[in-house]
Amino acid sequence: MSDVVLHKGSPPVGKAADVDLSTDLAGLSLPNPVFTASGCAAAGRELAPFNDLTAIGGVVTKSIQLAPRSGRPTPRMAETPSGMLNSIGLQGPGIDAFLANDLAWLGEHGARAVVSIAGSSVDDYAKLAARLRGHPVSMIEVNISCPNVEDRGQVFACDPLAAAAVVQAVRRNAPTQVPVFAKLSPDVTDIVAIARACLDAGADGLSLINTSLGIVIDTETMRPTLAGVTGGLSGPAIRPLAVRCVWQVHAALPDVPLMGIGGIRTGLDALEFLLAGATAVQVGTVIFNDPSAPTRISRELRGALAARGIDRMADVIGAAHRPPALVVPESPDPPGDEAPIEERLVRAVTFEEA
Ligand code: DHB
Repeated sequence: MSDVVLHKGSPPVGKAADVDLSTDLAGLSLPNPVFTASGCAAAGRELAPFNDLTAIGGVVTKSIQLAPRSGRPTPRMAETPSGMLNSIGLQGPGIDAFLANDLAWLGEHGARAVVSIAGSSVDDYAKLAARLRGHPVSMIEVNISCPNVEDRGQVFACDPLAAAAVVQAVRRNAPTQVPVFAKLSPDVTDIVAIARACLDAGADGLSLINTSLGIVIDTETMRPTLAGVTGGLSGPAIRPLAVRCVWQVHAALPDVPLMGIGGIRTGLDALEFLLAGATAVQVGTVIFNDPSAPTRISRELRGALAARGIDRMADVIGAAHRPPALVVPESPDPPGDEAPIEERLVRAVTFEEA
């Protein structure tokens, strides 16, 4: 393989304000690819003082079930190195109160609502999907990967047939024009096999990834810290895992819209997911530390793209999959912004390394 030829001089820095962050997610046109992740901002209301909810990609609501649920006993959160372990147990108001209060509020405020649904049977999911008809829903995210269910057999995303059964039931019952995304677990041997099963069953796209199952043990009490013993690990600790999942699924299924999720804290972290093949991203755990993170990360992403001479976010989706040894002939007169995107990407990389 030949070496990348480095240009001399500065990168062709564009203006951040001119960078086009728009993206298309299974037919849904978005001004911005940054969403809130499920479970980290309830139904978005608390974030409104810190973010313009109409300007970010959208709000993914905490997974809702048919009936109200108080969740697991406490303690249900624990800190970990570069992450957080939680065992909330799908606490929520149930679908009726959610539709009347939360979804209605998001609709009135012009936010794009991605409704995350969770159930313990295929029929639960079918009923939830049907209940969303006639409501202001931009997308449905099917949470088939919650790690905090009583029975590991209910983690539908660990089995291709079970995952497909849920997705098919949701697709059949959901409003026809609303895209259905399945949220997958990293805790599987072959994530591409699960991805294919969901797509064959009618999913329009995939959300990658949910938390990974973990345990923290308190060395004073010498017992697990969480009352539920196991919990879902989130935050920067899982980012390489998540990027790997996005990479593998994009490599196998390059036309499938992907939401990249897992430990995104900065615009550069978001860029990493886009380069791996994500069409949009969700930010979650960082919100506990910085409630303005969706807006800040969008701004940082714009700046990072401008600094690399890239004026359309859509051009970088999956760009890390291109061959490593592209050679750009050194030129005394480096091409302008009309240069093909492949060339601008190479320039962006080589300038950074120079
Ligand atoms: C919960 C649900 C999830 O999907 C997750 O990743 C972590 C926690 C919960 O409500 O317990």
